[in-house]
Amino acid sequence: MAIPQEEDKSTEAQLEPTVEKRNLLTVNDVERTFQVGGSPLHVLKGIRMELKESQLIMLRGRSGSGKTTLLNCLGGLDTPSKGEILFNGSPFHSMSDNQRTLVRRKHMGFIFQAFALMPLLSARENVELSLRMAGIPRAEWKDRVVQCLELVGLERRMNHRPFELSGGEQQRVAIAKAIAHKPMLLLADEPTAELDSGMSAQIMAVFQDIIRTEQVSICMTTHDPTILEVADHVYEMVDGKFI
Ligand SMILES: Nc1ncnc2c1ncn2[C@@H]1O[C@H](COP(=O)(O)OP(=O)(O)O)[C@@H](O)[C@H]1O
Ligand SMILES: [Mg+2]
Repeated sequence: MAIPQEEDKSTEAQLEPTVEKRNLLTVNDVERTFQVGGSPLHVLKGIRMELKESQLIMLRGRSGSGKTTLLNCLGGLDTPSKGEILFNGSPFHSMSDNQRTLVRRKHMGFIFQAFALMPLLSARENVELSLRMAGIPRAEWKDRVVQCLELVGLERRMNHRPFELSGGEQQRVAIAKAIAHKPMLLLADEPTAELDSGMSAQIMAVFQDIIRTEQVSICMTTHDPTILEVADHVYEMVDGKFI
């Protein structure tokens, strides 16, 4: 006998009540306008989005659609011309520059397309540098560096410098560096753009791992259609708006 679909669903819902996840980021009607040669250039035109704890979301769109501009606003490297960004319940958009810098240093990590490692430092020293910058006590550095490099599968490359590593390995060091101080939010701007598909898949697997083990949320931009399936949500950006 066929059980009606609706009844089936409600039974499941009763057995497994879903625990509501908290919003880490809430973006309300964000606009960003630049003055270019005396006239306004509207780059973000009313963005609304949310990112919950332990989620991975992707911003996808062509070059010039406004992805980096939005990511910069989310990370406090830039501020919206209008609208609100709530981070962990606080109004990030209206904080003073100093407050925003403190929040960013303590609770956010950044990953870029071009890996952004110090070329003369080993993998270990690169990760250590990030702990030093975040003001983590020196006594905790050694264990945390090893832990982070293990998380990204590079425990056997700790003493290598960037030029002795592949592009994918360099990006994994950059991830270890970005999560070392235990941020709540990781912002990644086209982290796989310089990598082949195999290395990109490894980076996405590392992202999924650290969401589980480090309870971090990730917002990344991409224009690679092959990696979208691992996202909890994909926002499609066209000309400063989500479609
Ligand atoms: N500081 C700025 N001043 C003027 N225009 C800018 C500035 N930053 C970005 N833009 C413009 O905003 C548009 C979107 O850029 P961007 O956010 O980098 O797009 P994407 O990352 O999707 O390629 C582009 O036309 C770019 O030239
Ligand atoms: Mg960009």
